Amino acid sequence: MPHGHAQLGETTPRSVFYDQGRFGRLFPTLPVFAEDTPSLRDALAELGAKNGPMDARDDLSDPITLITDPAKSANNPDNPAITAGFTFLGQFIDHDMTFDPTSSLARQQDPESIRNFRIPALDLDNVYGGGPGASPHLYDSTVDGGRTTLLVEEIPGSAAVSVGNKTRFDVPRNSQNTALIGDPRNDENLIVSQFHRALLGFHNKVVADLGQELGGGHAAGEIFSEAQRLVRWHYQWLVIHEFLVKTVGGELVDEVLSTGPKHFKWRNDPFIPVEFSVAAYRFGHSQIRPSYRGNFGTSASDPAKQFFAFIFDPTAADPNDPADLRGGRRASRRFIDWQTFFDFGDGRVRRNKKIDTTLSTPLFNLMGQAAGEPVSLVTRNLLRNLMMEVPSGERVAKAMKLPVLAPADLDDLEHFHLNERTPLWFYVLREAQVTAGGEQLGPVGGRIVAEVIIGLIMGDRQSYLRQEPDWTPTYGSSGSFTTVDLLKAADVVVALS
Ligand code: HEM
Repeated sequence: MPHGHAQLGETTPRSVFYDQGRFGRLFPTLPVFAEDTPSLRDALAELGAKNGPMDARDDLSDPITLITDPAKSANNPDNPAITAGFTFLGQFIDHDMTFDPTSSLARQQDPESIRNFRIPALDLDNVYGGGPGASPHLYDSTVDGGRTTLLVEEIPGSAAVSVGNKTRFDVPRNSQNTALIGDPRNDENLIVSQFHRALLGFHNKVVADLGQELGGGHAAGEIFSEAQRLVRWHYQWLVIHEFLVKTVGGELVDEVLSTGPKHFKWRNDPFIPVEFSVAAYRFGHSQIRPSYRGNFGTSASDPAKQFFAFIFDPTAADPNDPADLRGGRRASRRFIDWQTFFDFGDGRVRRNKKIDTTLSTPLFNLMGQAAGEPVSLVTRNLLRNLMMEVPSGERVAKAMKLPVLAPADLDDLEHFHLNERTPLWFYVLREAQVTAGGEQLGPVGGRIVAEVIIGLIMGDRQSYLRQEPDWTPTYGSSGSFTTVDLLKAADVVVALS
């Protein structure tokens, strides 16, 4: 995603009164973790470099053995508590809350001067756009005059390369393959793109069910609004009760739900704090694997007939159907079989990478960055911590009255003089490693993530927490709703045997 320059001020007033649509701070009185000097920038560049201390140094010779032979990705240990798909659910949730396409990596920035291109709420504005009236290109004009149903498109040739000869579906695209969706980042890789497609399918299923349930006599607009409400509430419920519980632990989720956020306070409407958007919630970058099984192709059992690929491979030759999992393309094999990503109880699911301070090697060579900008996601994250003047993890832990990591836990940063003033993003990853064995976030990272996500839902007057806090899902079973239930209801799971 290109990064231009923000149009507004460079100074940093630290007021706590935020305009809607701007970023803000949880801890406005804390200073940035370190002064912006050439030697600090050198240190961050060294820390974020390919083959540097945060590079998992995966053997990128073959995407399949990278998965089947643990020796080839020794620095990418399995997380026994979370499956591979939660990374992309996390990415999808990020894209629903926060989008900063304008701030600069070159100079410090006042978060209040930067516009958030997403509504800071879990409201699926990345799926619905402005609704059928304002964003008609997202809706299917052949059903109810384009007023109820989201558009999905067939992938030509997919049945021939799919188990059971099943036709697969894609998000809609224009003639140049640009996805017609509410947020371009949801087509950044094939997995998040197909997850977006699943949300389209879930909405359409709810529309169809309501049509049957309510019978004729209901205006298309009413059906759309009711379906949108149900989809949003199911999604919000799942984010709290499945995604957050796995990411930060059930106890913390219950506490924040019952007593509300302690540190995340807002005046009128909630905003996105930079401690969340450039630090704590970027924990997910550490969960990404170098390669995945995109789908089972024509065989549930023969890997030679399945589609394995690196998440990105800039050397992949075919521009129309590259041999990696980048988004932005339509080709017969470019679909996802979810059994690898979420647990359908068939023994096929794969684990997520643990949350720690090593990132998969392909992330050190991002594609599509503006010329002259860093291509290492690690360097970009560290620079954002500096440019947004995010305080150190140690200071944030103290301000939150939570245990502070010992310098010994960060002794590999001594060389960079960052072991006692650690960029919050790095701190959150190391804290997860030290306090939770990398299986979930630690106390500081967990609390920031839980308070902001639950706070955004509590601050949304239309959310289920505000309208009907005791509401329980009707899709799924026994009052519960998981990602597996969502994918099944969306009819995007093809039986493999
Ligand atoms: C293959 C998967 C992913 C890729 C390639 C990716 C890549 C990126 C890139 C290039 C940026 C902009 C970096 C910058 O210039 O500052 C970014 C931002 C971000 N990412 Fe990811 N990401 C991925 C998955 C995730 C996941 C799993 C999470 C969290 C669970 C996440 C959270 C974030 C957040 C919070 C931002 C800042 C968004 C904003 O405010 O604009 N990302 N990501």
